[in-house]
Formats: sequence, structure tokens, C-alpha cells
Amino acid sequence: MNDRISMPLIPGDYAGLPPGAARCPGPSAQDIVARDENPPPPVLRESRYEFLGDADIDYRRYTSREHYEQEMTHVWAKTWQWACREEHIPQVGDYYVYEVGPHSVLVVRTESGIKAYYNSCLHRGTKLRPEEGMGSAQELRCPYHGWTWSLEGRLKSVPCAWDFPHVKPEAYSLPEVKVGLWGGFVFINLDENAPSLESYLEVLPEHFRDWDLGQRYTELHMGKVLPCNWKTGLEAFIESYHVLETHPQLLHGTGDANVQYDLYGDHVTRFYAVGGVNSPHLDKPLGEQELVNTMLIGDRSVVSDDLVVGEGETARIVMARFLRKILGEKYATDLSGVSDAEMIDTIEYHLFPNMILFPGVSLPMVYRFRPLGMEPERCLFEILFLRPVPDSGQQPDPPEMVLVGEEESYSVVPGLDPVLARVYDQDTANLRSQQLGFKASKKAGQTLGNYQEARIRHFERTVDRYLARAAAAK
Ligand code: FES
Repeated sequence: MNDRISMPLIPGDYAGLPPGAARCPGPSAQDIVARDENPPPPVLRESRYEFLGDADIDYRRYTSREHYEQEMTHVWAKTWQWACREEHIPQVGDYYVYEVGPHSVLVVRTESGIKAYYNSCLHRGTKLRPEEGMGSAQELRCPYHGWTWSLEGRLKSVPCAWDFPHVKPEAYSLPEVKVGLWGGFVFINLDENAPSLESYLEVLPEHFRDWDLGQRYTELHMGKVLPCNWKTGLEAFIESYHVLETHPQLLHGTGDANVQYDLYGDHVTRFYAVGGVNSPHLDKPLGEQELVNTMLIGDRSVVSDDLVVGEGETARIVMARFLRKILGEKYATDLSGVSDAEMIDTIEYHLFPNMILFPGVSLPMVYRFRPLGMEPERCLFEILFLRPVPDSGQQPDPPEMVLVGEEESYSVVPGLDPVLARVYDQDTANLRSQQLGFKASKKAGQTLGNYQEARIRHFERTVDRYLARAAAAK
């Protein structure tokens, strides 16, 4: 790009402000949305940031087997994680196997509600279901010797029971894993002393009061194994600092350096990127009509009078109005009350440890980053698109995950917008190089921006807090 504005490039040029107080020159996200025709909800009009320090983040957190094992025990076995959507298990007997690191959990819909069990037979440990995914059964039968439990987890039968007089059925019910429900997601927690899901979610229930993800259905589910630690992957998606270099094609149409970053409790952070605007980095910004003409998200094949910027209008207003119409028709739902911001902006929440939620309408994704087995330098990155349930209430069955090969482009995924496929390809290309670079470095850790990368620091601080809690309990 040759039209980037020349901002001072040497950090010392901004010395004098308190750490964390500097912001990108130009209009902020709040300045921009203040001019919207359909104003955003109050939760998007607030901001919450604090300076969390500027020490480097040690690379060993992403490469060390010892650190990884600590996380498996003290983070993954202690935190709430979404296992599946409720629509994955609509009928009694439907189950979903959720795996993270070495942990495997069998989530089952029973007559008494949704239950979850450790996916391990009480005879000799075999997994009751061999791998991640959906299924249906009227009882839970181990494939090795046939011990069988009811859906409620009670031991029903043991082949050659005469050989097991020491097995008392009442002591051989399947051990349960805690379950919580929110927004159409089924969460599990392996810690029997875990706090309630509701308290764990902090501000999310309040912020999502009008973004009921329980009224969404899964339109698309894709996954890709990434050659990097799960935190390396996740951290690439909770900052927009990289847009300038990695996704220059987005600079006409998306705020980047003026993204707002919000830090809530230990488990929740947010970023808020306004759409339908020029990047503050551009020296020659596009006019309002030009911005509409280069709109990157949505159906670009449509030419319509609706896409003409009228007197006194902005590109944001026109794009939001257009998307409200075409997406309302496509998904047979009334979007007339949805604000401009919710239609076109990128609103992204992170729920610790590995869930990223986008409540907006045109970018309705959920991301999940999962450690794979006991391999510190590999993870599974999943992307779901959650669309509004039609006003009729009719919705399709959830799709199976499309697994994109490690060397494959996201463009192979049927139904994925090619613009987004390119963005995901650009993101994932960085990750292998970064993971390898951690080990090639003479320097010991990452140096983070005080504001734009504050969510990374906040996230790593929460990891540390879980590890410290475990150490204190010894
Ligand atoms: Fe499950 Fe033997 S290991 S029945």
C-alpha cells in the first residue's frame, strides 16, 4: 500500500504520556459510532481498560512441555469450556464427545436433562466412545468387554457378572462432569468444586442479554490443525494490531489502529472494531461512496440503489441498511431493530480459556482453540458461523465439522466467503512462523503493545492466576 499516513514510527516519540494512555491519532471507535443513525446498545458505548504492565511474555509458555502439562492440570481441568451446542444433542440419547488435551468428556441428553461423564470405562479404562463427535444411543456400552450403563450413568449390565462379585453397582455409576448451559452452548467443567457457570461468565450474560445466541443455529463449522501452541493461535485473534501488515486489503473499510480494547474480570475481554470506515493509517482515505463500493463483507454481486450514499449519510449507515435488508431476507428474520454497529462492526469477546464470540449479525462467528493431546506445539482451531434462527423457528441440523488440511487454503470450505478465507489463510500463515521463531530467538519473550495487545497480557495473566492458585493450594 502506498497511501498509508506517516505516523511517528519510533516508540520514544510518544514518551511523556503515562503507560497505556497513548491512543492512535484520529477518531476513536466511540467518536465514530456517536454519529450512527441507529445507535449501538449501551454495552457498546462503554470502555474499560487498565494498564497491566509491560514486561515481556516468556516464549517458554508456548513451547515448554512442563508449562503445557501444568495448563492441562490447572487450567483445562479447572475451567468452564463449551463442549457442543444444544442443537448437537436435541433428542434423549444424543451424545457429543468433547476432547481437549488428554481429557475426554461424553455429553449426553437424558430424560432428566443434559449430563456429562468422563469418557472412560470403569472396567479397564477404555473410552466409551472412541473419538470426538456426535452420535445417538439408548445406553452406553463399552466396546471392549461390553459393560453397559444407562444414559443416566447407572451400571446396567456386566458380561459374566459371576466373575465380579466385588463390583457393587451403586459404586460403579459413571462419574459425572459438571454441566452448564448458556447461549445455546453446553459447557462442561472437570472441577467438581468449580464456581457456577453464571459467575464464571462475569459480564457476558448482561452484555448478551439482547444477543441471544440460543436463538442462533450453526450454519457452518470448520476446523484446522495449526502447527502452534493453542495460546499462540488464540492470541493472533484477540488483537487487530496485525491488520496493517497481514491484511492490508482490509484497510479500506475497517478500523484497525482505532479498535477499542476492553478488559473485564479474569475471564472476559473484548475488542470493538468499527466497520464501514477507513483505517486511520490511510493517508488518502476513500470517500463514503467509495467505501461502500469496496465493501468487503456481504454479497458483492448485488448492485442496488440501496448502496448509494445519500445526502448527509455515511458508508456505515448505507452498509448497515443494506445488510439489514439482504440478511433479513436470507435468514427470514426481522432485523429492523438491529443497530448499525451490530450489523457491520466486529464485536469480539473472549471467554477464558478458549472461546471467542462475535455477537454481530454479519460476522457471527465463534472461535475455539483447543490443545491436541499432549503436544504443546499443535492445536485445533475451529470456526462456527451462528445465524439467526428464522422467525418460523425452523432450522437445519448442525453440520459436521469441515476439516481443512494443514497445508490447505480455507477456500476449500463450501459456503465460506472467499474474502474471509483469504483473511484466515493470512492469519494462519503467520502462526507456524511465529511458533518456530519462539525457539529460534535470542530474546526470551514477546514485547507487547500497551493498548492494542493488552488482551494478550490479560489472558496470560489469567493463565498465571490459575497456575498460582494451584501452587498455593499445595
Ligand atoms: Fe470397558 Fe472392559 S474396558 S468393558
